[in-house]
Amino acid sequence: MWAGRFSKALDKKADDFNSSISFDCRMYKQDITGSLAHASMLAKQGIISAEDCEKIIAGLGAILEDIESGKLEIDMNCEDIHMFIEAELTARIGDAGKRLHTARSRNDQVAVDIRLYLRDKAAEVKELLRELIDAVTEQAEKNKAVILPGYTHLQRAQPITFGHHLMAYAMMLLRDISRLDDAVARMNYSPLGSCALAGTTYNTDRAYTAEKLGFDGIMLNSIDGVSDRDFCLELMSAFSIIMMHLSRFSEEIILWSSWEFSFVELDDSFTTGSSIMPQKKNSDMAELVRGKTGRVYGNLMALLTTLKGLPLAYNKDMQEDKEAIFDSVDTVIACLEVFAPMIRTMRVKADNMYRAAQGGFINATDLADYLTKRGMPFRSAYKIVGQIVAECISKNCVLDTLPLEEYKKYTELFEADLFDEISLETCVSKRISAGGTSVGSVEQQIAYVKKELLK
Ligand code: ARG
Repeated sequence: MWAGRFSKALDKKADDFNSSISFDCRMYKQDITGSLAHASMLAKQGIISAEDCEKIIAGLGAILEDIESGKLEIDMNCEDIHMFIEAELTARIGDAGKRLHTARSRNDQVAVDIRLYLRDKAAEVKELLRELIDAVTEQAEKNKAVILPGYTHLQRAQPITFGHHLMAYAMMLLRDISRLDDAVARMNYSPLGSCALAGTTYNTDRAYTAEKLGFDGIMLNSIDGVSDRDFCLELMSAFSIIMMHLSRFSEEIILWSSWEFSFVELDDSFTTGSSIMPQKKNSDMAELVRGKTGRVYGNLMALLTTLKGLPLAYNKDMQEDKEAIFDSVDTVIACLEVFAPMIRTMRVKADNMYRAAQGGFINATDLADYLTKRGMPFRSAYKIVGQIVAECISKNCVLDTLPLEEYKKYTELFEADLFDEISLETCVSKRISAGGTSVGSVEQQIAYVKKELLK
């Protein structure tokens, strides 16, 4: 391509080292789409002739078709996908192909391609998130009245409904969608026409190509146009947060599937056995999602670090953006694809959850509230209940089975109705505060999420 300036070919090792086609080949379609818009603009502005433009458009269309049908193999000896397509076009249509790169550089070309590629991929991730939210909400609806212990510090804390617990994840995943929307909205401006860095002396129409490519406008500074990779970082941050949510969810699924908890059982189709221990049923999918979170975080840190010392404008370092962001996108998609059906087919062991809720004194707060509602200051009630819990532990009983006479020794405020007040069912059904764990509140949360999914 640059034979004019050079008297020697590139060293073979240097050539391989420099090449990005092995990974940027996946953007062939976006590269062609960008070139089609660019060629029409050049013709509209009288920069190339209408005949040349027609040849370019037909030629690019044929290349796209041939790549997709498998007739044309992408030549891995080319430096990158941009050079391959331009060279192939010129081989097919001659001089007209050599005119395509007028008023353009690979610097703005690659910046367009990645944006177009990530716009599609972000939409794919969003769709998978919606599918997962739907699966979570379906389980929440089925289990809205199932009682289990809610935990803080992984210590039994207060009774909650399983529907409530699941809907916490639905809310997180909804925010993940809106984070993607935010990132895409900022990304969706066209760098095309920034050229190498300084713009061009040709009378180009950047707004025209931007509109043709579905961008919301043009990037207003050409140096920024070719230098910016914040959109990759924003998406990678959003992907990292999605993975963090999936990883926390995975961790719970792994715990819940253990004999110690035995709260859920994953479907056979989403678990694996052991090669030696016949009794094993492992939550490999959840473990892998938790594990893959590390690489998505790592990719974000890698690109942040790559970019931090770069002077404006384009530097070859920036070619390192693609493997990182592609790996993150692929990983998030792969994780979401197994996660939704894994949740949908998960079996909930309501009896075990309930049994766990009966231990651990998780109705102690409600017993303190009982006294408070009868006039005792909360701190005093808190202290008395602490003493009662200690007594129960020493007597090997629970609050529900300690006789009323024992209660009365602490304060005359205790009456027989206390047992009703501290039953697990009451603890849950009375938590009607907005966002709380009662069935009615969970139903409202489910209705909200369903409405959001329709948007
Ligand atoms: N393969 C390059 C990349 O991915 C394309 C842009 C190259 N531009 C250049 N002036 N060397 O970043």
